[in-house]
Amino acid sequence: MARLRIGVLISGRGSNLQALIDAAADPAYPAEIVLVISNRAEAQGLRRAADAGIAHQVVAERDRTAFAAAANGALRQNGVELIALAGFMRLLDTGFVEAWRDRMVNIHPSLLPAFPGLHPQRQALMAGARFSGCTVHFVRTEVDTGPIIAQAVVPVHDDDDEESLSARILTAEHRLYPLALRLHAEGRLRIDGNRVSVAGGTAPDIAALNPLEALASRGGSAIPRAEISQRARRR
Ligand code: GRF
Repeated sequence: MARLRIGVLISGRGSNLQALIDAAADPAYPAEIVLVISNRAEAQGLRRAADAGIAHQVVAERDRTAFAAAANGALRQNGVELIALAGFMRLLDTGFVEAWRDRMVNIHPSLLPAFPGLHPQRQALMAGARFSGCTVHFVRTEVDTGPIIAQAVVPVHDDDDEESLSARILTAEHRLYPLALRLHAEGRLRIDGNRVSVAGGTAPDIAALNPLEALASRGGSAIPRAEISQRARRR
């Protein structure tokens, strides 16, 4: 069967691009990356594309409409059927987003709709969330919105900083993006309004607690009771 032709848009490191390259290296994977476009010439991801023998191109137009026209031309020329945004840091022209409606996906390092926009890991820490994660979704004109295809959850640890939480989420991203694109390439996704259903998909039947439930039955609190009530009085 013909593999789905994917174009990946990047701006930097390209570790998600690498995860997709690695997945597509398996001939049984139902998609292939046929083009990588970066808006920045110094993006590390361009080297990854070169090393994998994938066509790559810099589209550096600063004007949004000009960027859209140039990118669109290259994508069409290479027969791209699906665009995957992978750390692409520019806002896209509305016409471009509409032209690729339901054929453009993005990965974002939070459990959308929580924490859209910049620094989602920092936002999760600031909000005191005990879980965060990543989301793959179809792209709509509003930033980080659109029907959600797949999500992965990771716990936030008490001693996390932005770097450690980002690293934990990134590991999950590298598993989630190839999975989501596989489902799309296999024609198993159906979009109905904001909801995506996955033909033959099964969801895990779990509730993950953070901190772990087992803690409470192992000798209770490490903070002496007297101190807890003192703290409560101070509030
Ligand atoms: C990832 O965290 C992705 O979710 C976000 O930007 C980051 C890109 O990392 N949109 P990389 O370039 O794929 O390494």
